[in-house]
Amino acid sequence: MQVNIPLIQTIDNSYSITIDALKQTHFDTKVAIITNPKVAGLHLGYLLSKISAKELYIITVPDGEEYKNQDSVNLILESLFNHRFNRKSLLLAFGGGVIGDMTGYVSSIYQRGIDFIQIPTTLLSQVDASVGGKTGMNNTYGKNLIGAFHQPKSVLIDPLFLTTLPQREFGAGVAEVIKMAVTFNKDFFEFLENEDLNDREVLQEVIKKAVQTKADVVAQDEKEHGIRAALNYGHTFGHVIENETNYKTYLHGEAVAIGMIMANETAVKMKLMSNEEALRIKNLLQKYSLPTEYTIKDTNSFYEAFFLDKKSSDTSVTFIIPVGIGSVKITDDIEKSLVLSVLENF
Ligand SMILES: NC(=O)c1ccc[n+]([C@@H]2O[C@H](COP(=O)([O-])OP(=O)(O)OC[C@H]3O[C@@H](n4cnc5c(N)ncnc54)[C@H](O)[C@@H]3O)[C@@H](O)[C@H]2O)c1
Repeated sequence: MQVNIPLIQTIDNSYSITIDALKQTHFDTKVAIITNPKVAGLHLGYLLSKISAKELYIITVPDGEEYKNQDSVNLILESLFNHRFNRKSLLLAFGGGVIGDMTGYVSSIYQRGIDFIQIPTTLLSQVDASVGGKTGMNNTYGKNLIGAFHQPKSVLIDPLFLTTLPQREFGAGVAEVIKMAVTFNKDFFEFLENEDLNDREVLQEVIKKAVQTKADVVAQDEKEHGIRAALNYGHTFGHVIENETNYKTYLHGEAVAIGMIMANETAVKMKLMSNEEALRIKNLLQKYSLPTEYTIKDTNSFYEAFFLDKKSSDTSVTFIIPVGIGSVKITDDIEKSLVLSVLENF
């Protein structure tokens, strides 16, 4: 199964995304697999049975969002310099979104840019993070504040990796899938309502539909000047929830799930969504044990935190509001009082 991303409006070339068991591949160059001990322990043997290279190195960084930082980036760069990687060398990002974002970032800056391939191993990274060329790392000021748009050479999605994924991590990936269906594709949403993602064949089909949706959006707006921002549905609220709970209580996808509920309530208030549609989305999130409730202690400080969002300006907050199911509105023109009245219900 293959999806092509034609990046028509950019200087980068288009690239392919393959959704299938990894094929036997030899790279006639120096290659470094960037991964972490957990993913390496579970799946490096399988990867090494599928790929070979002229020279092959494995670089591991500690596992976790808290290590998506400059220290890990330096560790990878150091290793590449030590092994004399050059502009013709290749990096393989082998792990979840954390590894993918960091490997992408390193490959965007190493000697002003070398090639990398995404081999995502979590559902979230297979359906979302590995596609679209956003790379990054965190610093003390916030998440993903440093990074570049740097497209991978290709994306190899092997659903087999998902068999070892903990249930909660799986759910966090499903939240991003639901996000894409609500914002862009009503048929896809109905498919999700009627099918069970725990079925292997359904899951493969869902990955394909989600990747295709993201690819279509990225092809239209690679650098997020317009429609790509719609993929942040649920994120404006979700980021505040992650922040308030110090990134400890919820996985990113879980916070996004609650964020989607808040965005839906805003849409209902604005008469852009019916109560029945909001309930269908809530039911679908709950089908995968995603959280849909949250207690806001102080609605004013919750609102003020919106201004830390990358999409906000000093004076306005950009919201991604669903219009029914399958369409979306990006707006920085919602009255503060309306948003506060929504927040007061949480
Ligand atoms: N670039 C983008 O467009 C984009 C989009 C969405 C999210 N992201 C980023 O992605 C990151 C989140 O990604 P994630 O949810 O994949 O988190 P993650 O990379 O931290 O992976 C979650 C956990 O699962 C483990 N893991 C990975 N593969 C596994 C497997 N097959 N079996 C068992 N365990 C496995 C990881 O080691 C980790 O402990 C965040 O940093 C977020 O900012 C980026």
